[in-house]
Amino acid sequence: MTPALSSTAPPPPPDRIPPGVHGALDYALLAPKHMDAAHHAYVAGGSGLGVSAQANRRAFDGWAVLPRLLRDVRHGHVRAVVGGEAWEHPLALAPVAFQALAHPHGEIATARAAEATGTCLVASTLSSRTLESIAQASGPARWFQLYFQPRREDTLQLVRRAEAAGYRAIVVTLDAALQTAGRQALAAGFRMPPTCVAENLRGQAPVEPPAPQPGQGRVFHAMHFAPTWADLDWLMAQTHLPVWVKGVLHPEDATALQARGVAGIVVSNHGGRGLDGAPASLQMLPAVRAAVGPGWPVLFDGGIRSGTDVFKALALGADAVLIGRLQVYALAVAGALGVAHLLRLLIEELQACMALAGCATLADIGPGALVAQPPAFPSLSEEMPC
Ligand code: FNR
Repeated sequence: MTPALSSTAPPPPPDRIPPGVHGALDYALLAPKHMDAAHHAYVAGGSGLGVSAQANRRAFDGWAVLPRLLRDVRHGHVRAVVGGEAWEHPLALAPVAFQALAHPHGEIATARAAEATGTCLVASTLSSRTLESIAQASGPARWFQLYFQPRREDTLQLVRRAEAAGYRAIVVTLDAALQTAGRQALAAGFRMPPTCVAENLRGQAPVEPPAPQPGQGRVFHAMHFAPTWADLDWLMAQTHLPVWVKGVLHPEDATALQARGVAGIVVSNHGGRGLDGAPASLQMLPAVRAAVGPGWPVLFDGGIRSGTDVFKALALGADAVLIGRLQVYALAVAGALGVAHLLRLLIEELQACMALAGCATLADIGPGALVAQPPAFPSLSEEMPC
């Protein structure tokens, strides 16, 4: 088991890829052996009953990839252009908070893996390391995920720090203004260890909402600081960096954001950690792509556990995908080496899928490469947790 983060803890053992990792999914299967059980439950679970987290996985089972014959794919590659940036491949590391739960080096290890594999890293506001130290460890392809803070000056300070540290885009997450606890994590007795803190927010003075209106209830009271369209407009006026919005599921939100001038969107249900009961993000991807039209930047995340899953998301309209829990599992199993290995495995699995489906480049991957399949037999996603 990976030791908990502590300043007095002995240095962690050297990272090593254990036997039995043959594909990306193996990191998810091995992770429980390498993580504290409650920490694993916190990462794996969704909010509430975990309905949307499960839906994310099941949605992939509803599609099969059609093999194609005799196509010449010898010139094949997986290079992508995402929001004007040239990427070596269409994978990025999703913002995932508190990575010190998985490995003593936390986001620093993840950043090293991103650099080694030419992968864009999206660092979370709620990282267990400062955004500056993550920037130092990562390659040039780094974006900063922003949560609006109750005070605009605190939000602005995060943006200025991200600009100064060389982050190339701001990804503002809008689907998690309220996060209900996950049943799985509660049942496992999860508590955030005192050693695992949101380093970027250190020093922020606490701020209390005004007293609740009579009969308001604690949920709507807690929404007092939740951002609105005016906050997004304000943010976009503050920074020269491209602003992406993460957490889009409704096609009308997508077109409204497009009209507002955001750089692009991430179709996502926060890995099932926002509104429990929200549809799988894969289910909404085709409608969102249809709404914003071809050629406008759309990223996707939620439920990806293999290169074939990446292929399916690209076929249904994504330009590139973000990898969430899998990165944490690989981090827990084998540190920076594990995350780099995971990314290599995903890329090779994507390439193998493309080659056999007759797609030489990402531009060749379209909805015609997939066929809907009824869930006829117990699937991988039924057998394994998120
Ligand atoms: C997340 N996610 C997330 N998103 C975000 O915008 N900021 C954050 O700080 C976090 N933190 C976070 C912690 C943990 C433990 C998880 C599992 C997820 C959501 C993440 O970016 C992504 O949307 C999902 O993880 C994608 O689903 P998969 O790949 O995990 O199935």
